[in-house]
Amino acid sequence: MPPIISARNVGKTFHQLKRRPGFSGALKNLFSRDYTDIHAVNGISFAIEPGEAVGYLGPNGAGKSTMIKMMTGILTPSAGELSVLGRTPHANRMRNAAEIGVVFGQRSQLWWDLPVHDSFALNRHIYDIPEARFADNLAFLTTMLDMAGFIDRPVRQLSLGQRMRAEIALSLLHDPKILFLDEPTIGLDVVAKDVVRKFLTRVNSERGTTIILTTHDLVDIEEICPRLIMVDDGKLLFDGELQHLRASLGSRRRLTLEFGTDPGPIALTTATLSRDEGAAKHYLLENEAISLIDVLNEVGRGHGLKDVKLEEPDIEEVIRTFYQNKARNGGVRA
Ligand SMILES: Nc1ncnc2c1ncn2[C@@H]1O[C@H](COP(=O)(O)OP(=O)(O)OP(=O)(O)O)[C@@H](O)[C@H]1O
Ligand SMILES: [Mg+2]
Repeated sequence: MPPIISARNVGKTFHQLKRRPGFSGALKNLFSRDYTDIHAVNGISFAIEPGEAVGYLGPNGAGKSTMIKMMTGILTPSAGELSVLGRTPHANRMRNAAEIGVVFGQRSQLWWDLPVHDSFALNRHIYDIPEARFADNLAFLTTMLDMAGFIDRPVRQLSLGQRMRAEIALSLLHDPKILFLDEPTIGLDVVAKDVVRKFLTRVNSERGTTIILTTHDLVDIEEICPRLIMVDDGKLLFDGELQHLRASLGSRRRLTLEFGTDPGPIALTTATLSRDEGAAKHYLLENEAISLIDVLNEVGRGHGLKDVKLEEPDIEEVIRTFYQNKARNGGVRA
């Protein structure tokens, strides 16, 4: 099967008028048209297969929203080739819109003064959704996103978490093949984030909807997206599985051994002691190939071991290590 999205050396350059400050600056601005070029997206290539869930990650200004806008046909690339569902997005905006769903965390697509349900009904007409299909989808989305309590209320009265659930429902009513989400969990509390994440995971796995999402919340990536694309300064830094990123960075697992009483120092070849609190000893597992069993075999039975705790490096730590390494020696590819 061909990729559902393919980007080849895609670029987007904004020409921005240089603005000088103050009154004399404003006068000069009138007569001199000096532009600076901002390379918001700079030679990005990737291919996404149908049914994937991909997290698009990068610091502020890295070019994430710009890439989403090009993939959804809102912006035209200034370089390269972009294909979504076999079409050039900006040249086929109407046909594209029928097959994709888009959610911008920062901008509502619901009608502010109308009840949520009316925006849904309008989309039914815009997308020409068959009545039975619409009823099925509405029932599914209302239950899954727990919207019954507010579906009849005007959007302006909703909390952010309620509105975001309604935005996501709106984007899925017409059964899009791809769902693009630009910061869908921004500003949500932990409970609302959890609802959104579980829902998106389900839509991806049960309906096979391809998901591309940008976020600053790494837990979104961890829970929804096995694949991660990282960008900075318009350029691609990493494309691969989060697991591979972990492995390629040699991120270390943390192990804690708890003993009934302090057994004294225990040096191991399978793990490095990082902190000794007497009865509790903390180690780092430097090597992916070493298993917990290997360590426990080495510790042996003689010390009165009571409990064991093994922790994966958290994603924040993995990403931080990645950016530190990148600053030293350029990007990593899995
Ligand atoms: N319409 C525009 N005109 C000029 N410059 C723009 C325009 N849109 C974006 N930019 C610039 O392009 C760069 C990338 O912006 P973009 O919005 O894609 O970043 P982002 O990765 O989404 O950041 P954030 O995490 O803050 O949302 C930034 O330097 C931004 O100022
Ligand atoms: Mg953005």
